[in-house]
Amino acid sequence: AAIIARVNEIIIAHHGMEGPLLPILHAIQADFGHVPQAALPVIAQHLSLSKAEVHGVMSFYHDFREQPAGKHVVKLCRAESCQSMGADRVAAHAQHRLGIEWHETTLDGAVTLEPVFCLGLCACAPAAMVDGRLVGRVDEARFDALLEEVR
Ligand code: FES
Repeated sequence: AAIIARVNEIIIAHHGMEGPLLPILHAIQADFGHVPQAALPVIAQHLSLSKAEVHGVMSFYHDFREQPAGKHVVKLCRAESCQSMGADRVAAHAQHRLGIEWHETTLDGAVTLEPVFCLGLCACAPAAMVDGRLVGRVDEARFDALLEEVR
């Protein structure tokens, strides 16, 4: 109920805005650290959308999380320059090392792995972002070192 009340406040704060869905989702994520399932029907009702539409927008933009994130968030760039420098290999390595897929969090709650599309660090591809810090030239060894650092 506390979640719904807060979600309602956020929606009301965006009342009358044009194209309110994305700002509302961002505000909810800023508040809760993710967009709780319970928020979806409330948003849908207020904006006269279906739950599926709200969910569709959420999954289209990779910024939104449906679950609380782990202690550390590792984002790996999936865009072209990084791909051409071996980002796929690093991604496969990362998923294997952590035992999770994209958007998942390790069982101990330590690390969440997320894809991101260009971090503006293409000159130092493949690029990553660890807890908001940009890191370039992330190969498998560098990834392991980063994991050591945050663990
Ligand atoms: Fe990866 Fe730009 S393509 S940082």
